Amino acid sequence: MAVVLGVCMAGCYRVSDTFPPNRVYTVRLERAFRQPFEPQRQAELRKLMTDLFGGPDQPRVPAEVRSLGLFNDEWLAAAAGPVGSDKGGRSKGLFREHCAVCHGVSGDGVGPVAFVLKPYPRDFRRGLFKFKATPKGAKPTHEDLRRIIETGIPGTGMPSYRVLPAWEIDALAQYVTYLSVRGEVERGLIDYAAGELRPDQPIVDEDATDEEQATQRRVISDLVSTVARSWRQSESLVTPVRPPKSGRDRNASIARGRELFLGDVANCVKCHGPSALGDGQTTDYDDWAKEIDPTDSIALAEYCRSGALGPRPIQPRNLRLGIYHGGGRPEDLYRRIHNGIDGTPMPAALIKAPNSPPSTKGLTEDDIWCLVDYISSLPGTSETNSSP
Ligand code: HEC
Ligand code: HEC
Repeated sequence: MAVVLGVCMAGCYRVSDTFPPNRVYTVRLERAFRQPFEPQRQAELRKLMTDLFGGPDQPRVPAEVRSLGLFNDEWLAAAAGPVGSDKGGRSKGLFREHCAVCHGVSGDGVGPVAFVLKPYPRDFRRGLFKFKATPKGAKPTHEDLRRIIETGIPGTGMPSYRVLPAWEIDALAQYVTYLSVRGEVERGLIDYAAGELRPDQPIVDEDATDEEQATQRRVISDLVSTVARSWRQSESLVTPVRPPKSGRDRNASIARGRELFLGDVANCVKCHGPSALGDGQTTDYDDWAKEIDPTDSIALAEYCRSGALGPRPIQPRNLRLGIYHGGGRPEDLYRRIHNGIDGTPMPAALIKAPNSPPSTKGLTEDDIWCLVDYISSLPGTSETNSSP
């Protein structure tokens, strides 16, 4: 499907030379501050963003980001722009060819087919990712993004791109980072304008003194640096996975895992249900749907008019199917349970030291391995075996 729709994207969609602004987030802040963003403010934001990051055909990397060595110009040029190839026959426009049909040209997650998918394609502009080796709140590593693109996300619309050459996957992973950094800076500027400035006060005032303008530009530069550094940092934040104790009894580990799953401390049962069918709490939403209160019908109507897809409650995973969206290797499951799943209600585990007194609340690393064993034992078994 990706190939057919990719060809369609290449030929059927007009792409502007600037990225569309993040209207959904602007609407959120307009509501929060009870103050509309005037057309003048919107034009200023669009110009500032284009000065910093260029457009879909000619991406640019601000100096603060470039100095951190996050981007490689050759990859960026190959992933951006219209679909085609260079003189040497190397592909160009990779993102529009393979990804924009779902993720949208700006990475807003609202490509032409997005509305039929559940879950919806990711909006990269929040800089929030689910399946990664780093803790909640941290960015994914380049390798995390590569892996998602290579393997896809089983059980969702996200396809595998294993057939692409390795360098194209690198280029696409980096382009996801570019769209994220860009999107987060845009959100930061919207926050700043809504929270700190009068509606008629420019972010950078061309009539101000040189000194004042330098101070105003420093606000932007600090914002760009903060976002870029959070990406740079991710490589050093990978959660270590220490193997379980050797010689453990697998049946005992599964039994202990089951006890933890149903118990008050891990409380997996709250969302995944007593039989792990994903039928516990099913009325919550993910963070992308929580830009506004998804239960407020007036806010919701305005939100959808601004280009967002109608929010749908998130489904805790049915763990008896054995389809793991973030990978089914023991270390993947370990990290999912240890770190939780960013942007979703699935919490990180409360970790305690191995020799803590039994009254200390929390799970040890061995407990996490017991949960991994229990979960891995479920697929293919009847749900009635959840009873002792
Ligand atoms: C047919 C639709 C579709 C296409 C095409 C597609 N994706 Fe996705 N993608 C999705 C969906 C749906 C999700 C959300 C899955 C979820 O939330 O579990 C997603 C999620 C992602 C994520 C987020 C992973 C995370 O950990 O949060 C990344 C990164 C991603 N896609 C990159 C890409 C790239 C790069 C391409 C092109 C090479 C691409 N996608 C093409 C549908 C698509
Ligand atoms: C507050 C609700 C909540 C609690 C508590 C919770 N989960 Fe989840 N869990 C979810 C949701 C929602 C998802 C699906 C996230 C997604 O992919 O968007 C999920 C997904 C998972 C997955 C699938 C990962 C993958 O790669 O597909 C596993 C495994 C899992 N949970 C295990 C656990 C375990 C073990 C516990 C207890 C330590 C637990 N969960 C506690 C809500 C919860």
